[in-house]
Amino acid sequence: MPKPAIIDCDPGTDDAIALWLALASPELDVRLVTVAGGNVGLERTLANARAVVGLAGRPVPVVGGSAGALMAPFRAETAVHGEDGIGGVALPEGPPAAPGLAADAIRDLLRAAAPDSVTVIGLGPATNLALAFATEPALAGRVAEIVLMTGAWTEGNITPAAEFNAWNDPEALALLFRLGRPLAMATLDLTAQAFVTPELVAALAARPGGRCWRAALSILRALPPSKRFGMRGFPLHDPCAVAWAIAPGLFGTRAVGCEVDCTSGPSRGRTVIDRWGRLGRPANATLLETLDAPAFFDLLAERIGSLG
Ligand code: RIB
Ligand code: CA
Repeated sequence: MPKPAIIDCDPGTDDAIALWLALASPELDVRLVTVAGGNVGLERTLANARAVVGLAGRPVPVVGGSAGALMAPFRAETAVHGEDGIGGVALPEGPPAAPGLAADAIRDLLRAAAPDSVTVIGLGPATNLALAFATEPALAGRVAEIVLMTGAWTEGNITPAAEFNAWNDPEALALLFRLGRPLAMATLDLTAQAFVTPELVAALAARPGGRCWRAALSILRALPPSKRFGMRGFPLHDPCAVAWAIAPGLFGTRAVGCEVDCTSGPSRGRTVIDRWGRLGRPANATLLETLDAPAFFDLLAERIGSLG
């Protein structure tokens, strides 16, 4: 049976590819897409999410939410995603956003769901998810698993200490860890294994597909190489979180304790991931530690290629 799913995102070039992967996969029944400001401002991330879902031709409601974090000033990441947040790739305008606010839409869906039934996938700052659960904590019991692209056990990508989503709203992320629900995290160390080079893009371009796959390839061609990787290519972040929800066999995992640094110092937003149990604290997360990258990219091509 397909798993009912909510996807919260900040499209975002990699968010777009992650959304197409989710919408193309029979393992998921994507019932709601909620949007936050993150990679770019909310006006753009919401328009991008509408366009991405519209291009897939799936009647999934898209609802806007928080423009920024609970406690910190907003900072976009246009250097990676472009001013429009989608690498300058022109997509037809999508259907109008559904009315209301993300946190309310999340709560409404969970309130109507069975216990332990909904997969919640977070691909951006966790503000919308935190607001939903902060106002109605009991709804966490309707969640089967929270899957996040967030954090790092080594260096960050927005500060030396922190990954962008975690750094953007560490208080929101910390709240999700406190819910006590199964939580899987795809960190920068995992997504670095989903490494995209020009040679890989050329190989993927030979795979068949329709408008979504062609748009995904255009996005991959538009993404800049990363100086963290010697300008040889870039990591594909958000689709890794979706891949865990649809094909967990691609991953090696480890149960870990994770604590989010919510201080105002240079380590703000750091996810302190205790891979060796040195602190002796109970595990509160499933760390996605290794990825079968060739199988991951094959899945990406096969699934998105099957969309219109
Ligand atoms: O650090 C990478 C994460 O931040 C990805 O989710 C990317 O889309 C940005 O939101
Ligand atoms: Ca994202």
